Amino acid sequence: MQLSADQIAQFQEEGWLFLPETFSPEEVAVLREEAEAIYAVQRPEIWREKSGAPRTAFAAHTYNEAFRLLGAHPRLIRPVEQIFGEQLYMHQFKINAKAAFTGDVWQWHQDYGTWARDDGMPEPRAMNISVFLDEVMPINGPLMLIPRSHRHGTLAAGHDVSTTSYPLWTLDDEMVTKLVAEGGIVAPTGRPGGVLLFHGNLVHGSAPNITPYPRKIVYLTLNAVSNHIRRPTRPDWIAHRDFTPILPVPEDALTEYARRGRRAAA
Ligand code: SIN
Ligand code: MN
Repeated sequence: MQLSADQIAQFQEEGWLFLPETFSPEEVAVLREEAEAIYAVQRPEIWREKSGAPRTAFAAHTYNEAFRLLGAHPRLIRPVEQIFGEQLYMHQFKINAKAAFTGDVWQWHQDYGTWARDDGMPEPRAMNISVFLDEVMPINGPLMLIPRSHRHGTLAAGHDVSTTSYPLWTLDDEMVTKLVAEGGIVAPTGRPGGVLLFHGNLVHGSAPNITPYPRKIVYLTLNAVSNHIRRPTRPDWIAHRDFTPILPVPEDALTEYARRGRRAAA
C-alpha cells in the first residue's frame, strides 16, 4: 500500500492521517480474540490500570504469532517507510485496552518527548501507526489529536507519575489551550480495521471510557533504523534494542493465519 501525494501532504501539514477499513473484519477478528487472551494472562509486559483492568500490553509481537504478523504487515510498514525514506525497526509495540467502564485517561503528551528523554532517540524520525481492533466512537475514549501541533517541535513537559498507573511526560493546560486555539481537536473514529498514523511530535491524549464499549487499539512505533535509540533507560520490552530492519510479511499473512486457525478448530 502506497500513500498518495495528497495523503503525504496532509500528513506533513496536519501531522496525522486516517485510513479507514484498512484491515478486513476477518483479519481484525483474530487480532481482537488474541488481544483478549493476552490481557487474561499475568505477565510483566501487561500494564494494568489502578483498578486492575488491563491498560496496555507491551511487546506482544515478540510472543504472539498474530501480532508478529501485524508488526511486519506491509499495510503498516510500507506507508511509514515511504514517509521516512528508509527501513524501519520496531521501537515499541502496544495493545491499548481502554477497557469498558474502567479504561483510564491518557493525558496530553507528545510521544517523541518520551522517546527523546527516556530512550535517547536522536530525531523525531519515528511514528505511531495504529490499528483499531474495536469500533472507535466519539463516546468510548477515542484518541484526540491536536492538528498541526507537531510543527512546534518538542515542547516542555512534566513527568506525571501519579495520575494513572503509567508514567508519562505531559503538557500543561496553558500549552494545550494555546495549541488547541491554533489547531482545534480531532478524534478520528471508525470501524475495526481503521488505521491511524501520526507524527511523533503531534500532541494527543484520550479521555476515560465510562461506556460498555471497549476500545482496543494496537500501536506500532516504527523508527527509522539510522535513528535507533542511544541511551535506553526503560525495560527492553518497552523500548526495544533490536534494530534489525523489518522485512514485511506477505499481504495475505493475517488472513491465512485466521483461516489456518479455523481449519485447525474444525
Ligand atoms: C498513547 O498515547 O500512547 C495511547 C493513547 C490511547 O491509546 O488512548
Ligand atoms: Mn502517545
